[in-house]
This record gives sequence, structure tokens and C-alpha cells, in this order.
Amino acid sequence: MRTDTGQIVHLADYRPTDFVLERVDLTFELDPTNTKVEARLIFHRREGVDPSVPLVLDGDELTLSGLLIDQSEAPASRYDATPESLTIRDLPAETPFEVTVTTFINPEANSQLMGLYRTSGVYCTQCEAEGFRRITYFPDRPDVLAPYTITIIADKAANPVMLSNGNFLGGGDYDEGRHFAAWFDPHPKPAYLFALVAGDLGVVEDTFTTMSGRDVKLRIYVEHGKEPRAAYAMDALKRSMKWDEERFGREYDLDIFMIVAVSDFNMGAMENKGLNVFNDKYVLADPETATDQDYANIEAIIAHEYFHNWTGNRITCRDWFQLCLKEGLTVYRDHEFSADQRSRAVKRVAEVRHLKSEQFPEDAGPLAHPVRPTKYREINNFYTTTVYEKGSEVTRMIATLLGSKDFKAGMDLYFERHDGQAVTVEDYLKCFEDASGRDLEQFSLWYHQAGTPLVTASSSYDQKKGTFTLSLEQMLPATPGQSNKEPMHIPLSLALILDNGQIAAPTAVKGGEMTGDVLHLTERKQTFTFSGISSRPVLSLNRSFSAPINLHFDQTPADLAHIARHDTDLFARWQALTDLAMPNLMQAARDAREGREITCDPALTAALLEAAGDEALEPAFRAQVLTLPSEADIARELGGNNDPDAIHAGRHAILSAIAREGNKTFLRLFDEMKIAGPYAPDAASAGKRALRNSALAYLTYAEGTPARAAQAFAAADNMTDLAQALTLLAHRFPDSAEAQGALDTFLKRFDGNALVIDKWFSIQATIPGAGALARVKALMENPRFVSTNPNRVRSLIGTFAFGNPTGFNRPDGEGYRFLAEQILSIDPKNPQLAARILTSMRSWRSLEPQRADHARSALATIERAETLSTDVRDIVERMLK
Ligand code: ARG
Ligand code: ZN
Repeated sequence: MRTDTGQIVHLADYRPTDFVLERVDLTFELDPTNTKVEARLIFHRREGVDPSVPLVLDGDELTLSGLLIDQSEAPASRYDATPESLTIRDLPAETPFEVTVTTFINPEANSQLMGLYRTSGVYCTQCEAEGFRRITYFPDRPDVLAPYTITIIADKAANPVMLSNGNFLGGGDYDEGRHFAAWFDPHPKPAYLFALVAGDLGVVEDTFTTMSGRDVKLRIYVEHGKEPRAAYAMDALKRSMKWDEERFGREYDLDIFMIVAVSDFNMGAMENKGLNVFNDKYVLADPETATDQDYANIEAIIAHEYFHNWTGNRITCRDWFQLCLKEGLTVYRDHEFSADQRSRAVKRVAEVRHLKSEQFPEDAGPLAHPVRPTKYREINNFYTTTVYEKGSEVTRMIATLLGSKDFKAGMDLYFERHDGQAVTVEDYLKCFEDASGRDLEQFSLWYHQAGTPLVTASSSYDQKKGTFTLSLEQMLPATPGQSNKEPMHIPLSLALILDNGQIAAPTAVKGGEMTGDVLHLTERKQTFTFSGISSRPVLSLNRSFSAPINLHFDQTPADLAHIARHDTDLFARWQALTDLAMPNLMQAARDAREGREITCDPALTAALLEAAGDEALEPAFRAQVLTLPSEADIARELGGNNDPDAIHAGRHAILSAIAREGNKTFLRLFDEMKIAGPYAPDAASAGKRALRNSALAYLTYAEGTPARAAQAFAAADNMTDLAQALTLLAHRFPDSAEAQGALDTFLKRFDGNALVIDKWFSIQATIPGAGALARVKALMENPRFVSTNPNRVRSLIGTFAFGNPTGFNRPDGEGYRFLAEQILSIDPKNPQLAARILTSMRSWRSLEPQRADHARSALATIERAETLSTDVRDIVERMLK
């Protein structure tokens, strides 16, 4: 493990390299424990750089075993090699010159899963962000771009497949038992996009004809026997390629595009040029083993990585501070893709749910940082939902402010102007300014100021004048390192809904700019007046979630119900129902805490049941309506001094009340939404299943017995229904014979299928209540628990910490102490994984004092540990600050 070096990197310190890398030639002689890497690098000195300036290459846990300069051995006096760097002096005055570095590395011993490692006997790489320096000494930064030629030599029997970036040059027999393969990637790229895969893998093949008529070979590599489970991923890939041509005018640029699925992977997937490497969770699917959510994730992540080919690879980041340039934009692109492939409104609801449950807490806690940070200690800790999801929302707001035509012109200009370059957020914004003529100076604060803006709204209507007045005030909370903030440019989509359900068209708007249905809030306080409004309207504000803000607007239940019934923006209808539910859920939590009786507002039940039963609405949307805000959502709204047990009890009571009241509706939906015929993963069928399973959950609440869920479990013919029924049984009736029987049946049926067994672990890790910890500890003793496999660790320990509020936040603090122990045991093997799971405690300060005290001491235990990775040290120190 690389222990903490404590060095903070600042954006302000950026300067270009002294040497320009022209070409890279790498030769790998693969061996499980002793792989030889020979790197031939051709550099020239940048103009104006003094010849005495040394060349400094990055390393990480490396030992130098050979160094040639212009093909002759370098005397020891000319270089210094440490595990972290190689400094070469007295370089030839005549440039270009060639440096040949030889290193030996041990893939088998690489448990960090960064650099070159082994997974199920397959060689595989992960180089983003700084993994390449674990392979060879190199200028490992994203603004160093070069074409790569790769030669792989390995045992032929064990490694029939040998892949790298670019196009295949050729291959053949090498020496006793070994063969070789050569690849050339003509597109200059930074080292983080390098990839190599070798091993014995099965393959699924297809082709895609691009818009200019070129045939591209498509290949997805999986473990032997799993080929049929890659069919959906292949289909998603072809749809992604087509969509990027149609929507963004982007064509693929190599002869071949490959995806490799591996079972040990720290993140979701990686966009290496022409050779994406995936966590197999986001490739493999069939009806028997994958849920509708799994299918949707596969579609989104296949698209995401493919879209990176232009947003990330052809145009990359100048430095890691610009990460959102590729990630935020690419998330925006994959969101748009899924919205076009599925239902836009339902997709938007799911996105906003995710944003609010993951990004908003990050932005409100000790780990808050701007979308474009200005300093970091460990870059791996900045692959955050702020950079990704808020980054995507920022691009969405640009599209909203500019309108689709100017937004497209800005994107086109970006691709044209910066193709082949490593650029900054400023370069990106300039393209939209130049294409639209709009000044984005104030808007750019979204990249620089952390925190979720709070917008407070109040309104009044003047019948005599026919005017509607809206007063808005924005406030951006203080975040670590940023106490004083400037007002932001906030685009707010709105509608004034009249009594008859029609949307009013004001004759004039005063007080600020309005384009289409979008109001531009640019000042701290601003009052807008709409004239020509004939009767008192109901205001629907921040429709489609046009800005990622918290909105305080006291609307009556009647007004919210009016929006829920009439807005033409479906997202706003869902939002209104959520706004109706939230005060109820918050009050229920307070009542539960004080031991008071809990009541559910009949207006809420009526509005929910009306929407749920509305056949004009698609089932997927109705299912979203019936999914009330989560316990974490309620905790966030309550804001502090939280008691997770009371929140759980309050929510439970509200759900039960709705279940009793809506019994007839749920019985009908459970019946009507049944799908005859074989499973298909399309969005419409998935929506019906979601609505039916939601009805099943309410029925189970009302009935209070496991019978109906047990029946559903027995009758299920697909993983969506099966996992849903199992979750209901285990979560609602954990001690029943039905739950135990179903868990056993499930295990027997899917034993050996790692991705399904992950679900078995997760479902048990999230059983509510104080007993969860004992269950999690027992499951860790199960031989199926593999502590080196990130998916398995996340499915049990990660899911427990992130997804079981009552189980994890036990009042006695045992959950936190357990997590601290686990972090300390994972960290030496896989720091990235440890740091990621530790962020589950990011909201510890909003707990009630007793729990918060326990949480603080558990964090302090971690902080006191003698050896910690930079990853974990960075997170724990920021959390305690
Ligand atoms: N660029 C990858 C993506 O598509 C994520 C890789 C992150 N890897 C890491 N070690 N931090 O989102
Ligand atoms: Zn990405």
C-alpha cells in the first residue's frame, strides 16, 4: 500500500510539461508474478526549456531494472530512481531523444486493482486516474498525449486472447509456448486511457456500419459460458453508436470496438480507447438473473463509456481538476440517451431521486466540493456524485439557458475546436458563449461554488390588476473552504396553472429575464411580475428540475394537488406529490420520536391513489408516484438531530395508512399489471412490473402476513419479481419461516452465479433494525463472502452502511465501530474501495447527539491508525474537520 504522502495538489500550480511526448512503444512479457515491461518513449524538449532541466517521470511502487538513453545504457550518475519517480539528467541537447525504461511488476500481487492486475486468471488494467505509473515510469498526466504501439507476449495456451487499444496490427508465434500480438492506436491519448487485457475469454461478435459507411467490428469478451448474457449489452452498444451519430453527429473512429467484462473491478467501467473494461455487473444479463434495474444500468453504462470516445478521449482533460469536463458532460449524454430510449419523464424522476439522495448530502456535508475543485490530496476521491451528477446538471442548465439550437451549435464548436486536445472547463464554456453570444460568466459559478442553493419563493395575485407577483431569494450555504458566496444564475422553468387546468400565457414579465418558460434568477433577491393573468394561478416552479436547488415554497395541499393533476410537465406532477408527502413523513418522524399518534393526511392518500389509478399515465410513472421519499430523503429534509429509528417508524406508519386506504386500488393494480408471456426487458414492461410490485408491497403492508409475498416469490418467472418478493419477505418478516425458506431457495438456485449472490447478500444486509449487524457479521463468515472482490464487499458491507439506516445507525454505535474495523482491514488491500465505503458516514453530523458521538469516535479510531492510505486519510480527515 502506498501510505499517505500528504501532498496537496493545487489547480493554481498547473504548468505544461517541459518535454513533449511524441510516441510510446510498450512491450509486455506477461507473467502472473513477474511481468516485464519495456517502455520506449520519444520526447522532445519544449521550446524555451533550458537543456539542463531534467526529465521527471512518475512511478508508484516501481523498481527500475534498466534505462537506455538513445539506445545506450544510462550511467547511474545520470538518473535517480525511487519507487515514486525517475529523474533523468544531462539529456541530449539535440531533440528528439529516446528513453527506454524497463520494469518488472507483479500483477498477481496487485490487490489495489490499479495498474496491471489479475482477475479470475485474466490480465487486466485500470489506469485512470494514476494507475499507469504502477506499470512503468511515465509522465502520467492527462495533458501528455501520444500514439501508442503495444506488443504483448504471453503464454499461448493460457492467453489465447491478447488485446490493447486501437487497431490490430498482427501477431503469431514467438518462442517456446509463447505468442505475440501487436496493436496500434493512432489517436494520441493520455496514459490513463491505456488498456491491456490477456487471457482465455469467450467472445460475442457483431458489426456496426457508421454514418459514413465504415464497418466497425464489435466484440464483447466475457468468461467462457457467459456469452449469451452479453446479448443485451451488445444491443445497447449498437443503439448508443447510432444515437451519438444522430443526436451529436459523432462517428466512431477505429476499425474495432471492444468491451471486456471482468469480475474484480473498483468502479463501474472504464472508457479506455477502443477497449472498454467493465465491471461484469454492467455487462451480463438474462431474464433469469438480472432485474429491470440491472438492464437499465447496463444500457446506461455501455452508453456512458461509449460516449466517452468523444467526450473524454478525443477531447480530454488538461488536468484532473477538469474531471467534470468529461464526466459531467458524459453523464448528461447518457441521461439524454436513456431518456430517448425510454420514458423521458420517468428517467428524469429517477435522475432527480438519485441526485437528491446522493449528491445533495455530499454537497451539504464535510465532503462538499465544487464541481471543478481547486485542490485535492487524492484524485481517486474526486470521482464523486458532485463531479458526475451535479456536473451533468450544470451542462443540462446550459442547454436550458441556451435552448436546443444554440446548445447544439456550442457542442459542435467544442468538437471542432478542441478535437485532439486536453482542455479546461473555461475552454468548454467559451464554445457556448461564442456559439450563442450569451455571457456565461455568472453562470460559471456553478463550477466554482460548492453547496446546493436554497431558493425561497413567495407569491401574490392581484385580481384587479390581473398581475401575479413572484419574489425569489437565493442563498448558498457555506461549505468547507468557502464561506462567502456570490449569487448564481439559476434557470427556473415555471408554469402558471389556472383553475381550469390550462397554463396561462402572461402578456408581459417584468423584473428580470424570461426565455420561453424559463425564468432567469440572477440576483440575491428578485421580484418578477406577470401581467395578463385573468384568475389566481397555481405556480409550478422548477419544472423538470431545471436547476439542482432546494426550493422552499409554502404551497397548500390543494395547490400541490392541482399541479399533480394538471401540469403538462410530468416531472412537476411527481414533484408536487412528493412535496405533498414530505411534510407528512417529517411530522410522522417527529410524532414517532415523541411517542405521539401518527396520522396521515387524507389529501395525500387521495392524491397518490388518484395518480396511481390514472390510466392515462404510464405504469412506470405511477410506480414512481407510489414510491415515497426514502428514509434518507426524510432525514435530509429534517436536516439535523436525526433519529433514524423514528424516521423509519414514522414512514412505516404512513405507508401502512396508505396501504389500508388504497387496498382496493392495489388489489386491482396487482391484477391488471400482470404480464402474460415471456419476460422482455423493455421500458413499458418494466414499468408494469414496477407498478405491480409496488402494489404488492402495499398489499403486504396492509395484510401484515408474508402469505402474498411468498406466493409472488413462488410464482416469479424473472429476477425482477423474484428479488422484489424476496426483499419484501426478508425486510418485512425477517424471522418468518417463509423468509428463511425463500432465502434458502434463492441461494440454492443461484449458488455459483456471483452477481445474483451479491443480491442475496444485499437483501439481507438491508433488513431494517438493530439485528442487522449480527446478520452482516454472520454473513461475513459465509464461505461465499470473498473479501477481495469489490462487488461482494460492496454488496454486504457497503450496502449495510449506505442502505440500512436503522441497522447501521444503531443507538449504541456498534454499526460505526464495525465499519471502522472493516475500513481498517480493507484499506491495506484496496484503498479506493475502503475510502469509497467510508463516505457512507458523510452525514454523521446530522445525527442526534448520542449517535453523532459514537460516529465521531469511530472516525477518530480510523484517523489514529498508524498506517492509512492517502485515500482513507483524506476522507477521514475531511469528515472530522
Ligand atoms: N472514467 C470512468 C467512468 O467512466 C471511471 C474511472 C474511475 N476510476 C478510478 N479509479 N477512480 O466514469
Ligand atoms: Zn465516465
